[in-house]
Amino acid sequence: MNEYDSDCLGQQLMNYGLTATDNHEDAGLIMINTCTVRAKAQQKAFSLIGRMMTVKKRRPDIILGIMGCIAQQKGIDLLKKFPDVDLILGTREIGRISQILDRIIKGNEKIVATDLSIKSIPRERHDGYFRNRIKSYISIMEGCNNFCSYCIVPYVRGREVSRSSQEIMEEAKSLLSQGIKEITLLGQNVNSYLSAEREEITFPMLLRMLSGLNGLNRIRFTTSHPKDLSDDLINCFKELPVLCPHIHLPFQSGSDRILRMMNRGYSREQYIALITKLRDIRPDFAITSDVMVGFPGESDKDFQMTIDLIRTIEFDNLFSFKYSDRKGTFSEKMDKKVDEHEKSSRLSILQSIQKEITLKRNIKHIGKEEEVLVEGESKKGVLLTGRNETNQIVNFLGDIKLIGSLVKVFIKRAFINSLQGILNKNH
Ligand code: 5AD
Ligand code: SF4
Repeated sequence: MNEYDSDCLGQQLMNYGLTATDNHEDAGLIMINTCTVRAKAQQKAFSLIGRMMTVKKRRPDIILGIMGCIAQQKGIDLLKKFPDVDLILGTREIGRISQILDRIIKGNEKIVATDLSIKSIPRERHDGYFRNRIKSYISIMEGCNNFCSYCIVPYVRGREVSRSSQEIMEEAKSLLSQGIKEITLLGQNVNSYLSAEREEITFPMLLRMLSGLNGLNRIRFTTSHPKDLSDDLINCFKELPVLCPHIHLPFQSGSDRILRMMNRGYSREQYIALITKLRDIRPDFAITSDVMVGFPGESDKDFQMTIDLIRTIEFDNLFSFKYSDRKGTFSEKMDKKVDEHEKSSRLSILQSIQKEITLKRNIKHIGKEEEVLVEGESKKGVLLTGRNETNQIVNFLGDIKLIGSLVKVFIKRAFINSLQGILNKNH
């Protein structure tokens, strides 16, 4: 979501007449996009803000701004902590950046724009911004009504608001005209998407509309909540060839007791039943997920239930985190907080088990011919790199002219973070 917001800001800044630089020493405007979903993300943002404050001290003429969820949450308090900052830009006010810059430049003002009660201000597009890219995001809804007990998102992204399907279709067409081949639809809970224009348009309906667009090779989406994953959406995976057979479906814990305390709205068994339905579509359907360890009151038995679920499902990949208190959430006030050392030890056990499972799942791709969307040269430079439909990175030898096209690659080797193969020249 932050990457998408940064791109929205970037397009508006281009329209405003600015050009991008990859060296902050050359910049006249520095905007730091921040995340506060976990304590670690917040620490990283604060340390970057601190570094940019020293740049601002040396060159007071630059405009320094903070955007994203920390900006939204802390608002004017951030100015007290970082008095040299010129702008605090909330999550729903990105569309106002041109007016705001005018005021800062002309009026020498400091601005805090963090209204969360509004629907996002429409953001201007720049129809050349994505020219060198193969894939991009589109936000289809923003905010969350779920209030999982540990989560700060509802407080910094506000309540759910869906964008109109017409706006989304126009944005998709603009991306396709610039050469984009793969679009990932974004929302805190995409399955709650409901656009109220003309008649009600649901998320599966939106997927069907997008899948008819010319030139769109692949659609993905993230994130879907297990409690709202409907049969209608599951059927889209059977129906729509452009919808990639991969889902990111956070489960958070394998213990029903902890899931209840988290206010997640589903049980372990219900989660397993969903995965069974998805793998019934095709056995290699890719499942990735988020999980956390050390939620308040998580006992060793609860943790073992999480490990057991991981072994039962065999996720293709997992994002795993140590629970951290977020200000104002329900779980912040819960007792029986788990000791930091215990959290670290649980996390490292979990991650080493998942590493084995990821490798095992990747090995299953060996011997198959898979469709790869070529994204560029691999980091080492000799190979091309792209992703298969199930979202694994695939490296192979090939001509750079293939970048941006769909090719067939015969998978020969599997590693934890990637697959390696041979290009089918008759693709
Ligand atoms: N502590 C640790 N992890 C968290 N997440 C969200 N809030 C917290 C928290 N307070 C994780 C969840 C979520 C992912 C985006 O971040 O696993 O799915
Ligand atoms: Fe946070 Fe839960 Fe909403 Fe996801 S569904 S954004 S975890 S409150």
